[in-house]
Amino acid sequence: MKDLHAVSHLQGWRASLLWFPDPQRPQARHESDGLLVTGQSPDGIVRVLAIGPYRELAARYPELPTTHWPGLCIAPGFVDMHIHYPQTDVIGSPADGLLPWLTHYTFPHEKHFSDPAYAHEVTRFFLDELMRQGVTTALCFATAHPESVDAFMTQAQKRRLRMITGKVLQDRHSPDGLRDTDTALSLRQTENLIARWHGVDRLGYAITPRFAPTSTPAQLHGAGELAQQFPDVWIQSHVAENVDEIRWVQELFPEARSYLDVYDRAGLLRKRAVYAHCIYLNETDRQRMAEVSATAAISPTSNLFLGSGFFDYAASDAAGLRYGLASDVGGGTSFSPFHTMHAAYTVARQSVGSAGLSLAPEHLWWQHTAGAAQALDLDGKLGNLLPGCEADFVVLNPKATPLLARRTAQTDTLAEWLFALIVLGDDRLIAHTLVQGEIVKPGFL
Ligand code: GUN
Ligand code: ZN
Repeated sequence: MKDLHAVSHLQGWRASLLWFPDPQRPQARHESDGLLVTGQSPDGIVRVLAIGPYRELAARYPELPTTHWPGLCIAPGFVDMHIHYPQTDVIGSPADGLLPWLTHYTFPHEKHFSDPAYAHEVTRFFLDELMRQGVTTALCFATAHPESVDAFMTQAQKRRLRMITGKVLQDRHSPDGLRDTDTALSLRQTENLIARWHGVDRLGYAITPRFAPTSTPAQLHGAGELAQQFPDVWIQSHVAENVDEIRWVQELFPEARSYLDVYDRAGLLRKRAVYAHCIYLNETDRQRMAEVSATAAISPTSNLFLGSGFFDYAASDAAGLRYGLASDVGGGTSFSPFHTMHAAYTVARQSVGSAGLSLAPEHLWWQHTAGAAQALDLDGKLGNLLPGCEADFVVLNPKATPLLARRTAQTDTLAEWLFALIVLGDDRLIAHTLVQGEIVKPGFL
């Protein structure tokens, strides 16, 4: 990055800027008249070259072609740590908790993704929707059908996105048409998909056992062997989401110390392992996750909608467990990072044990950007605007609605301003989403 001559397509972006000067810390910096400079590195990736006050930086880059957005704010693209693209059309399906929801709506719907044309159509809509909402990277579930991964990866690659997905492994307690009928084949399919997609452009693969109840011990251990064979591939699953689910896991795996321990025994706990929910972990579980650098994807709109419970921030912080935010669509009710951050605030207010936390808005924002990147082991690359970060960002319009304009005009501090955006914001706040330094147009492919 230091060799400026090797960088091409230099471009300036002038607006107010929001970023995290120390990506490890949830403290944001806001520059009211800033300049962001991006350029294409020899590896073809567009990255941030410089960020700072316009009056200081502009002199260093004479004749820089610059886009000026007065009144708007450039911020890192949001990172969604856990979402199911095949559940785009399942959002808002009410049920008496997780297991009935899976049985009545989700499993039947996911069967459709054996059809590649259908999977491509849903992927196109899904990626358009992520862009409209300002989400530039997601760790995403596909379905049990390898075709569902090929469709997603193909569309993400065309759009030059950094995305991670994987074929769902589920070889029991699942209906015909969704169940892996041949465990060895499901593992070979996973290995083939890793070879085809992991590390291609900005794509990554995640080994994806759905959750312990829908995999045989043989499938879980096979997934663990693959996780050892491919240490830079991600692992994603669900853990400790719902009390009925936990009871079921205890019946199926009586030898395990806890639900999390089922994954640990199978070799599925390590760096780059991301577990959704993590509501009912115990102290040993949290410490164990922290020790191996596995992370939690907090999914507050989903947990509220399905009535699952409340993530315990205080206990997680005490154990050093790292985490970030996720929509968990379609258990989650919104693609919007603002809705997710707002729900995370509400959930923390409910924390048992700690008599209610009031999470700072900068902390909420960090959990969905730089903190999520760190929890995905992609810090320095994503979720921030520091030099070296990939140039995926959003342009916010704080006057997008009459109420937003009125409320944000009456704030005195950065925290008050960010809180107003979090509580009142939705897709209307996102004036533009930029991927690799280019404005994304919905349906542009
Ligand atoms: N547990 C197993 N599968 C799922 C799923 O699709 N969504 C959620 N929220 N939890 C799960
Ligand atoms: Zn999920």
